[in-house]
Amino acid sequence: MQRNQTKSQTMWSRSLPGVAAAVVFFLSTMALPAAAAVVEHTFVVSQMNMTHMCKEMLVTVVNGQLPGPTIEVTEGDSVAVHVVNKSPYNITIHWHGVKQRRNCWADGVPMITQRPILPNHNFTYRFNITGQEGTLWWHAHVSYLRGTLHGAFIIRPRHGSSPYPFPKPHREIPIIIGEWWAMDLTKAERDLTYYLADDDPSASTINGKLGDLYNCSGVAEDGYVLDVEPGKTYLLRVINAALFSEYYLKIAGHKFTVVAADANYVSPYTTDVIAIAPGETLDALVVADVAPGRYYMVASPNQAPKPDPQHPVFVTRATVQYNNKHNHSNNGDVPVAPEMPYQHDTMTSFYFHSNLTGLRHSQRPPVPAQVDERLFITLGLGSVCRKGDSCVRGDSNDSITVATMNNVSFQLPAATTPLLEAHYYNTSSMDDMLQELPGRPPMAFNFTDRALIPTGPKELRLEPTSKATVARRFRHGAVVEVVFQSTALWQSDSNPMHMHGHDMFVLARGLGNYDAARDVDRYNLVDPPLKNTVLTPRVGWVAVRFVADNPGVWFVHCHFDFHLTMGMAAVFIVEDGPTQDTSLPPPPTDYLTCGHNLVPDEFYLRSTKTEVPDKSGV
Ligand code: C2O
Repeated sequence: MQRNQTKSQTMWSRSLPGVAAAVVFFLSTMALPAAAAVVEHTFVVSQMNMTHMCKEMLVTVVNGQLPGPTIEVTEGDSVAVHVVNKSPYNITIHWHGVKQRRNCWADGVPMITQRPILPNHNFTYRFNITGQEGTLWWHAHVSYLRGTLHGAFIIRPRHGSSPYPFPKPHREIPIIIGEWWAMDLTKAERDLTYYLADDDPSASTINGKLGDLYNCSGVAEDGYVLDVEPGKTYLLRVINAALFSEYYLKIAGHKFTVVAADANYVSPYTTDVIAIAPGETLDALVVADVAPGRYYMVASPNQAPKPDPQHPVFVTRATVQYNNKHNHSNNGDVPVAPEMPYQHDTMTSFYFHSNLTGLRHSQRPPVPAQVDERLFITLGLGSVCRKGDSCVRGDSNDSITVATMNNVSFQLPAATTPLLEAHYYNTSSMDDMLQELPGRPPMAFNFTDRALIPTGPKELRLEPTSKATVARRFRHGAVVEVVFQSTALWQSDSNPMHMHGHDMFVLARGLGNYDAARDVDRYNLVDPPLKNTVLTPRVGWVAVRFVADNPGVWFVHCHFDFHLTMGMAAVFIVEDGPTQDTSLPPPPTDYLTCGHNLVPDEFYLRSTKTEVPDKSGV
């Protein structure tokens, strides 16, 4: 839906040094707010044939588009998205990063906040956008299928005609980094769930295009082209929608000025390389200020070095192309290519993330000084027996590799009621279904000892692992501090930890083992960035703080899909406060009330190909 907005360019047609002045202007202006609107979309989820690299695939998409439609709203608007499920899969859509205050019902997590939408059924998501601006995104919350069911979610400020705390860009462009899978995503998920195979994508993509590093019988794949005019400033709204990898993004010859992350403003940070993990979003200004010509925009994944398991690295590139009306001669040239960080360079990502600070502005909430509850959560791999309690674990056919938080791998309860509904109606069975997420790991050891990386007898002693529906309850308003600690158990991946319904202040991060006596002094309590997805560095830790003030049942999980599918997840239950204003209202009248088929082991994907869907939820 296109909104009418006053475009006043002239005031801000200045270059980046104007950022500081713009901040001041932003803070001092509160022009007349535009009237709130209802932004309505219909999302038809269906399957479609697409051909890349000479291979035709049936892919599941929204409205025949990949990436799916962009939702554009103004802060204060209401959103209604009518989802029509014409795919053979059970679907939910999650509005990644939208806080959904007192509206957990619309959060879109199957069997946690709602029953999934069955094939040939519909459901309407309704929610308000308040107190957030910047770039977010939406995606199916049926793991793996989100690889092709996703799109940008853009929230523009409501105030005035020069709304940003930085010079108004000439154009705004979503840059969605994704993957192309030349295999059925539901099969890839099944392979991993049952630990039958470890599949890989076939290419990386920028805005759905593979780019000229890929071809079909020698004919290069299309790449995304960004046309720019010399001297103009562009706002790139960068989203990592990939299932598997952190990416570096560079544009040859150009610099980025990062101005927001996860729809929260950051102090302008100028860099020639962006690092972005799955689930993260970044807003970055780029000025077309070099010699007119063609420049590659490259996205390249990074991965932990050996002895971590190695995966093929798929680089993708788009082109930034200067439109010079008087001179087209550049357009035939080979674009200039940037030099990308090495695939095993994980430190550039560490420094990039550590360099972000929150922008100080009047609407920014202060960092709570008093902490009510502290959790220390280790992230890593482990194994559970395929059958029964005892088996040969580790790299054996009798066991399944799982991913854990404090050695517990999340599984959905074998119940027919979503957790949120059970919570709201105070169902007594709720407590039988849940196990408390431990506040610390069962054993302390050198979590980041690289000698733990390949699996072996020592690792098996350190990873006594179980499966459970792990949850942690918080009193309304509790200030919670969480230290996420990546471990080197079996592998040493980073872990982009995403929390639904809340943003977290990122107080500090470090390499090695977290040590409170040393590290608390390093907390940034002045201007930490606010994030919904926090990258826990590989062989390192990150400390966050958040206020549990949004009542509901919120999923917390790693945004690497293989980790999520393997169970690196938990739920945070935020209790109601003392007043109606601080309590969760009843479910919407059209909340799906029945009709799903739960196979506890397949906790996201529930193919209903062989089922006859009932009529509920239409
Ligand atoms: Cu973007 Cu629970 O996910």
